[in-house]
Amino acid sequence: MCGIIGYTGKSNNAKEIVLTGLKNLEYRGYDSAGIALTLNNKITLFKSKGKIVNLEEKLMDDSINSSTAIAHTRWATHGEPNEINAHPHQSGKITLVHNGIIENYLDLKTYLIKQGVTFQSETDTEVACAYLNFIYQTQKDKLKCIHEACQAFRGSYAFAILFEDEPEVIYATRKDSPLIIGIGSEGNFAGSDISAILDYTSQYMLLEKGEIARLTKDQVEIFDENNAPIQKEIKQATWSATEYKKNGFEHFMLKEIHEEPSVIEQIFHSHLADETLQKIDFSKFQEIHIVACGSAMHAGMVGKYLFQNYTKIPVTVDIASEYRYNTQLINEKTLVIIISQSGETADTLAALRLAKQEKATTLAIVNVVGSTIAREASLCIYTNAGPEIAVATTKGYTSQVAILSLLVLNAMKQKGLLSKELEQNVLKDFENIHSILNQVIKNDTIYKAIAKRLYQQNDIFFIGRGIDYALCMEGSLKLKEISYIHSEAYAAGELKHGTISLIENGTPVIAIATNDKLFEKTVSNIEETKARGAYTIFITTDNLNADSFESFSDITVSLPKTTDFVQPIVVVTILQLIAYEVAKLRGCDIDKPKNLAKSVTVE
Ligand code: AGP
Repeated sequence: MCGIIGYTGKSNNAKEIVLTGLKNLEYRGYDSAGIALTLNNKITLFKSKGKIVNLEEKLMDDSINSSTAIAHTRWATHGEPNEINAHPHQSGKITLVHNGIIENYLDLKTYLIKQGVTFQSETDTEVACAYLNFIYQTQKDKLKCIHEACQAFRGSYAFAILFEDEPEVIYATRKDSPLIIGIGSEGNFAGSDISAILDYTSQYMLLEKGEIARLTKDQVEIFDENNAPIQKEIKQATWSATEYKKNGFEHFMLKEIHEEPSVIEQIFHSHLADETLQKIDFSKFQEIHIVACGSAMHAGMVGKYLFQNYTKIPVTVDIASEYRYNTQLINEKTLVIIISQSGETADTLAALRLAKQEKATTLAIVNVVGSTIAREASLCIYTNAGPEIAVATTKGYTSQVAILSLLVLNAMKQKGLLSKELEQNVLKDFENIHSILNQVIKNDTIYKAIAKRLYQQNDIFFIGRGIDYALCMEGSLKLKEISYIHSEAYAAGELKHGTISLIENGTPVIAIATNDKLFEKTVSNIEETKARGAYTIFITTDNLNADSFESFSDITVSLPKTTDFVQPIVVVTILQLIAYEVAKLRGCDIDKPKNLAKSVTVE
């Protein structure tokens, strides 16, 4: 939810280094930002509301620099986005930045106020800082002080901490929020994820829950929960700093849509022999639970239809924040598929832990290598889509659908349900997917025309049946989250049971009909909306004669016809492009939509 970074090095350039890393983390949250620098041996704070560029304006003076700095870009959880609530927070001898939620912060605050502590902000983070300072008054061993304070915290945290009497040493610790330790030639880093450090180093260590890192300019020490020093493996990042740049595209989202042809082609060509994919024996499972949030859950919906239509394995799809609080019928005969681009989503991580506790086999489909969900699941398949910076996922979603398609095909093979003919057709689609997606992306006339028709609307409906309904859910979310236009996805057959009352003259209805068996039913539903004045945009496939749709379709999009294992990816690409163009026409901040963040690491 927030981005934190700390750096301590051999020369006085910590400000530039930390601000560079912070900008790479901005996709994690961007409603305010702050930095702490050691100036004249005093830890000094600079904070700003809004984006990091506002903070940079306060730091223009070259004399403002030091060898050590910690910084933070915020997605507000407690207290509105303003300078007072922005991190870093300082209390007595302690200065820190935090990602996560201290759930029992009010109890701690009440206790500290009774001890005479005063507070400036509304945040849980300032309470954590004050509590740490309170402990430090009696426990002068910094490691013990951090352990003792963190024992009192309930919830999630990743901290980078400065002590007044050691202003060039950074302490870092975590529980449930992500944090990595970067090893540089000129200095060392603590950061929320690899993007924070890639401009300076690709070597890093993963910090486990309760471990504490102590960083000086030329040394990194890691201590376990008993303060014993431990050795950690130094890992090499597989992604490069340039992948975190727009490389000529106007927005990260557009760049990441344009990467989809290569990403999906690579998945289909490399994962076919993926040993994790092959390793899963579907005959061991009575049912599959797919659990995720947002777009990842929508990808799971596509997976459900594919599994059930082609393997007859019962599948349920649950929103992670619901799954974790219902008594789920989970046992060792359940395969729980956890889907997450970031691998850090708090609700999804909690669902994974519940599934493991109930002895289910857990399979994670994740993009970020080494992320918490990837590490804790019993099996993990990486989507290898490369860094996804735009808050609205595109290649993250389509790569999840591609992996689910491959899982279904493997299950079919194991059950003897994959006919030679279907296998040949699917392999042909895999061969052609790069050109098919490029064809969709390059056909900008149609989706720009659709965007022009939509961008001034207030309510837009998506309708479809089966997998097309799952795609409507994703198309609707994409539109909402980056253009701020209200939209709803509806099972086409369900609209007439109430919501059709909202259809007025000119109301845009985007209908998706790519399934031959359900095609005519969906057309009937489109005509029901047309009869009530809807402006219809009909998305179908080019094996059907588009001319015959003029009676009920104001704009028809005919996409290349493929097998069901690839069709969802072809359809969703144009939905992503429509959403992108609408948001652009509305002048929205496409990569950093208001109120959102890329990785929701709090409940
Ligand atoms: C997608 O565009 C959204 N940004 C959001 O719904 C996202 O899919 C959801 O928060 C899940 O994130 P994850 O895949 O990183 O777990």
